[in-house]
Amino acid sequence: MPSVKLSDMNFLNQALEAALTKRQETGLFRKIPEPLETGYIDLASNDYLNLSKHPFLKQSSIEWTQKLGVGATGSRLISGSFLGYSEVEKAFAAFKKTESALLFNSGWQANASILPALNELSRQIFSAPALFFMDKLCHASMIQGANASQAGHAKAKILRFRHNDTDHLQSLLEREKETKGLKFILTESIFSMDGDRANLKALFELKTHYQAILYIDEAHATGLFGANGAGLANPEEVELILSTGSKAMGSAGAFLCSSQKMRKFLINMASGFIYSTSLPPAILGSLQAATALLPNLAKERKHLLFLAQKFRNQLAEKGWNYLTSESQIIPVLIKDPEKALRLRDKLNKAGFRCGAIRPPTVPPHTARLRFTMNTALEEQDIENVIKVLGTP
Ligand SMILES: Cc1ncc(COP(=O)(O)O)c(C=O)c1O
Repeated sequence: MPSVKLSDMNFLNQALEAALTKRQETGLFRKIPEPLETGYIDLASNDYLNLSKHPFLKQSSIEWTQKLGVGATGSRLISGSFLGYSEVEKAFAAFKKTESALLFNSGWQANASILPALNELSRQIFSAPALFFMDKLCHASMIQGANASQAGHAKAKILRFRHNDTDHLQSLLEREKETKGLKFILTESIFSMDGDRANLKALFELKTHYQAILYIDEAHATGLFGANGAGLANPEEVELILSTGSKAMGSAGAFLCSSQKMRKFLINMASGFIYSTSLPPAILGSLQAATALLPNLAKERKHLLFLAQKFRNQLAEKGWNYLTSESQIIPVLIKDPEKALRLRDKLNKAGFRCGAIRPPTVPPHTARLRFTMNTALEEQDIENVIKVLGTP
């Protein structure tokens, strides 16, 4: 790597060049893929129910825009809470069967700003920082939130437990049982990269025993799992449930479902809620329509999971490793990042879009192709993609 001197006029460009070269050398360089021609088969997006193009959502979005304009004009606390905003939250809370819902601009923003607020709650009321017990595979936005809780003098304690290993979690909870501060157990109900499920029943038992609080990210479960597609987290057992509007709901935003008191607290303390312009009317319109539509999509959910099972069966027949997937998200383990890219390109050329996911998004040596099912796919598409994929 070239040495960069701060006295050099071009030191910033040189530093960037050096950092990018380093990234390229490890095979982990990221670039935004070119959009594919229309007509490709989508096995990459999180638009599981194809709601992003659903006529009912589009119509509702247009109506809200025509009535209210294209922008929210400010933060919710100043001017951004237009008519109908809280009705959408109430409808979502009713769908999830929780006391309340608070809308954030994205799932990332919600996780990244709720955790520091929870740390602040612990600091203010218990005079001790929070303890975040997090699954090793928790989404980057939760890690961001936990890390942001380490600024300042009351640094949250972050304890990572092995993926879905409740024995490991229990040993950490036991070790910290005398430590002051609020304890939060954080996980995803359906994991975004491995497509497996958390053992929510075991987590509930642990949280009850150790007087901890459960925070479940349902980004990939809402709309698809549980009664009416309302997700896997039971609101009587889980205090904080995050759903995103950006996956099965087809557009954007995130709902944090909780008690009314938690909602009030976050309105006061979550920086990503307070200091950001709220979502535009078009998104509210689409979220309202999606919330109304989701309970009626049982047939679509069944089709999606049928396709996923068929895909897994065919992968197994060919000898591919799909890890512990049991949802619409199906990883295919490749290990070598460059090989994952080559295979992704081969699939692209054949008209299939899928993701090549490499470290640090996933742990070292677990580069993979990430396939996702959506309701527009047919059985024949699965057979065709398996043919192109070949054998390991
Ligand atoms: C588990 C999980 N949480 C949160 C997010 C962030 O959601 P959004 O895309 O709405 O920012 C994602 C999206 O990738 C996710 O997979």
